[in-house]
Amino acid sequence: MSRFWNSNTRNLVPYVPGEQPKENNLIKLNTNENPYPPSPLAIERIKNLNTDLLRLYPNSDGEILKKAVADNYNISGQEVFAGNGSDEVLALLFKTFFDEKSYVAFPDITYSFYPVYCNLFQIPYVKVPVKEDFTIDLDSYPENATAIVFANPNAPTGLYIDKERIEKLLKERPDTLIVVDEAYIDFGGESCVPLISKYDNLLVVQTLSKSRSLAGLRIGFAIGNASLIEGLKRVKDSFNSYPLDTMAQIAGEAALRDNNYFMETRNRIINTREWVKEELKALGLYVTDSRANFLFVRIPGISGPEALAKLRQHGILVRNFGADRISDFLRITVGTDENMRKVVECIRIIMAE
Ligand SMILES: Cc1ncc(COP(=O)(O)O)c(C=O)c1O
Repeated sequence: MSRFWNSNTRNLVPYVPGEQPKENNLIKLNTNENPYPPSPLAIERIKNLNTDLLRLYPNSDGEILKKAVADNYNISGQEVFAGNGSDEVLALLFKTFFDEKSYVAFPDITYSFYPVYCNLFQIPYVKVPVKEDFTIDLDSYPENATAIVFANPNAPTGLYIDKERIEKLLKERPDTLIVVDEAYIDFGGESCVPLISKYDNLLVVQTLSKSRSLAGLRIGFAIGNASLIEGLKRVKDSFNSYPLDTMAQIAGEAALRDNNYFMETRNRIINTREWVKEELKALGLYVTDSRANFLFVRIPGISGPEALAKLRQHGILVRNFGADRISDFLRITVGTDENMRKVVECIRIIMAE
């Protein structure tokens, strides 16, 4: 700590990202990265990049990428905001729509970055407990919340709320901003994007880090009514005009347009997830019905930190969160079939010890 830190900086409790280990002999299943390479079309665009473009600033609003997102969802580019990963998009969103007079509600078990943004920007918030089975109870959100934020499928539980239930919420609370973080939607849910034309209180956030295998390029976006998007742009242009670099825009566009490759790889991940779910249940684990590219499991009789350490001894890196109610759970990213056979085998060994 330096004496020059302001009081807010002193009080921050930053988000802790999953480890990116230096050794590469580990099976890395701790940050929900995609085990398959990015689209060959995206790789080709990177290899053939006209490097003279790098001398110039990129288009400041990520127009190339925005157009690809708009075409993908059959919406207008004015309904898309692009940023440097959905983490940045979420941060700008919190800054754009909330302040010290807001009251933001999110589940007690969800993406742990939401309270971090609230603390950074000094936004009052409440954590609404999920039910015993970790499902989000949208009926239990306070009437006076100015916004409700949740991930769908939720993280780290993987549990999914269907679009009809979210539409009911949008109708019931026309003056509450509903933010649906769809980082994992492509792995088995129906996106709320089609609802943005009907509801001006909806913002959907997505990323190319998971289902499009581009975590390293940092591409995220928000989709919503044009006036919500205009607000985000105002804040972006008051902070960093060029969040999305040239290479990210060009490769991101290619990944979005390569639908065949996308369908093939995400279907592979879904199939792997479903067989691993059944195998782990058969071993006696508690396994949530995850619709994401990760599993959320508890191994009977072994604490979360102990299970984490034992898997690491077997060369498998997963994630355990210290938070109340989930400290005995592991979040295991769905890797290749070969990765996951090893996971099942190691869990079997650990349980037998
Ligand atoms: C629910 C959720 N939202 C957003 C993100 C951020 O993704 P990115 O910044 O890579 O787009 C993550 C990453 O793990 C996530 O789990």
